[in-house]
Amino acid sequence: MGHSGGERLGTDRPGTDRPRTDRGGGRGAFALDAAAQRGKAAAKAAWWTAAGGLAKFMTRPTEGKAAPRFSSDAPPVSQARLRRAYLSAFEKDAGDVAAGLYPPMEDAPSHPAASILKAWDFLADAREVDGRRRRGDGVEVRDDPKSQGYPAYYRQNFHYQTGGWFTADSARRYDAQVEALFSGAAGAMRRRALSLLAKHWRGRDQRALAAIDVACGSGAFLRDLAETFPRAALAGVDLSPAYLIEARTRSGRGMVQANAERLPVADGSLDAVTCVYLFHELPPRVRPIVAAELVRVLKPGGVLAFADSVQPSDEPHLARMLEAFPAYFHEPFYGSYAAEDLEALFAAVGLRVIGRDKAFLTKALLLEKAQQCSP
Ligand SMILES: C[S@@+](CC[C@H](N)C(=O)[O-])C[C@H]1O[C@@H](n2cnc3c(N)ncnc32)[C@H](O)[C@@H]1O
Repeated sequence: MGHSGGERLGTDRPGTDRPRTDRGGGRGAFALDAAAQRGKAAAKAAWWTAAGGLAKFMTRPTEGKAAPRFSSDAPPVSQARLRRAYLSAFEKDAGDVAAGLYPPMEDAPSHPAASILKAWDFLADAREVDGRRRRGDGVEVRDDPKSQGYPAYYRQNFHYQTGGWFTADSARRYDAQVEALFSGAAGAMRRRALSLLAKHWRGRDQRALAAIDVACGSGAFLRDLAETFPRAALAGVDLSPAYLIEARTRSGRGMVQANAERLPVADGSLDAVTCVYLFHELPPRVRPIVAAELVRVLKPGGVLAFADSVQPSDEPHLARMLEAFPAYFHEPFYGSYAAEDLEALFAAVGLRVIGRDKAFLTKALLLEKAQQCSP
């Protein structure tokens, strides 16, 4: 695999010097920031709920002869409870901004015209996605020469998305698809991992800290990391060159193209690794390999900030919805992920859970590598 530049983790610090803790003012100093975060979240939630609703109306994914069949013994999900969980994701996010853990985040394009174009592009593609869903074709990308040479588990149209992980259009469209799926809550959910890391790093000199975001995708979480820790050495890692280009533009940080199973990073060299929404897309045999690799690159005492889908064991009342998800959004490994004991998986490679959080459909864990290896 080639590198797409800027991979020297120790040196990749842009010129910004706005450490969050330098803003002063004591408690309440971030109340305006929190209000801004709430305002943006409300606009974003309304926007993406409308776009997602329109896509559903256009494609009616559960109707028609070819619609995927789904049945479950689990009870129906309480919509009122789901809505409360959804709203609490935004509340937690604004609460962390108010507490000065991180600044208000720009999850959406700042220009309205860009938001309209993104939503338009998402809607224009929705029929293509639905066609794949109805054909049950989750491996169309295997015919694309660009997908040659990647692991078989990776050469799929996850979420039935056009181009899989292999095209610039897919990378540009990905955030709209995720936001429409989660009605604008994706950023707030991902930031549960940021919240745990920001609490853990509070008071530390950022200039001495180095971290990578593994499977950074189009860079949403890496951008949040960069906003929160502007002086830390941060880089993104992903297998997709197209997504890395998008992530670089978005975060301004260096990128490394690599498989998470074999990171081109020295043993014990990082203070943190972050990893968001990767593990549910890995086959069961690969998850322990990646977990071991994430631990390998951490310093003793370093932390993994992890976020991924909640599992039925976390939220039994959501079981039906979590079972339906892979049927409608090609997720070939989600069923085994849902049953995986993640804490045991990480414990087996030497990580101890030191923080937990949840928001809507995402759980976050902060896991620490032992200071010293036991003999
Ligand atoms: C669901 S996306 C998550 C992206 C991002 N973390 C986010 O929060 O939106 C999964 C990402 O994992 C990457 N990926 C999947 N398998 C990988 C592997 N073995 N090594 C590195 N990246 C991988 C994909 O290219 C994709 O960008």
